Amino acid sequence: MAKPKVFVTRIIPDKGFDLVKEACEVDLWTEELPPLYEVLLERVRGVDGLLCLLTDRIDAQLMDAAGPQLKVISNHAVGFDNIDIPAATARKIPVGNTPGILTDATADFAFSLLVAAARRVVEGDRYVRAGKWKTWGPSILLGPDITGATLGIIGYGRIGQALAKRASGFDMRILYHDPMVAPGSNLPGTAVDLETLLRESDFVSLHTLLNEQTRHLINRDTLALMKPSAVLVNTSRGPVVDGQALYEALKEGKIFAAALDVTDPEPLPMDSPLLELDNLIIAPHIASASKPTRDKMSLMAAENLLAGLSDRRLPTCVNPEVY
Ligand code: DGY
Repeated sequence: MAKPKVFVTRIIPDKGFDLVKEACEVDLWTEELPPLYEVLLERVRGVDGLLCLLTDRIDAQLMDAAGPQLKVISNHAVGFDNIDIPAATARKIPVGNTPGILTDATADFAFSLLVAAARRVVEGDRYVRAGKWKTWGPSILLGPDITGATLGIIGYGRIGQALAKRASGFDMRILYHDPMVAPGSNLPGTAVDLETLLRESDFVSLHTLLNEQTRHLINRDTLALMKPSAVLVNTSRGPVVDGQALYEALKEGKIFAAALDVTDPEPLPMDSPLLELDNLIIAPHIASASKPTRDKMSLMAAENLLAGLSDRRLPTCVNPEVY
């Protein structure tokens, strides 16, 4: 029997790719940069399955370009804002993602960004390399305390809660804001409205999905509510923060520092004013980038793809209403 045809939009770890190779006729995009949208449109024509990345825009036009035989879209990410889910659902195409397995790696990284921004680790490294370190100084590169501080977590799903667990080891007080959490739930920390969280937190960490409600959730107005000593951490999606408003807040000392693993756009252009700021750390979207985590992500993405190709329910499906 002929193997199903799939397009895999980038080289993924062997753990998952080996499974795909064994079961499918694979067209693999081997370049370092993602295929351009026009190229994607070409390459998906006639495929039965698509294994894509968060850098690929998968919309209705693309699904139609693939053709009616397209059975499954498997995203190699937990986030799926790159995919038009209603369009997939309307075409009865199940979409898979990779939840759960990257929770710890992402929470570890968010906490490390929080510490690094507060205690000026990256700035300290630049200071040394620039030959500015002349002596030990009582007032060099001071920052706020982490132990005992208040951490506000926006979006209290798996990753937000895993961050709270780490913070509890530092005796931090946890506030969270998440309209999806049912009132009266006994999750650790205190549920508060957004304004209270922003006003009272020493650290604010973002763990929301990107959607129309959360786009630019952190903007000029919400930044103005934060303490001048506050630190903002974003490991969710870049557009949750208005970059221009963040630039102004950091430049004018309206907040103390920020650390971003995600930006808008990605990658950040080299002439972005954000790159001029000393009180901002920017990482290249690597919060889930531990080797074991990425292996597991590739495996889960492969399992979703193969399930869809053989008309089985995807192990992790973001639009189960297709069934
Ligand atoms: C995701 O999976 O959505 C992350 O942003 C990358 O691992």
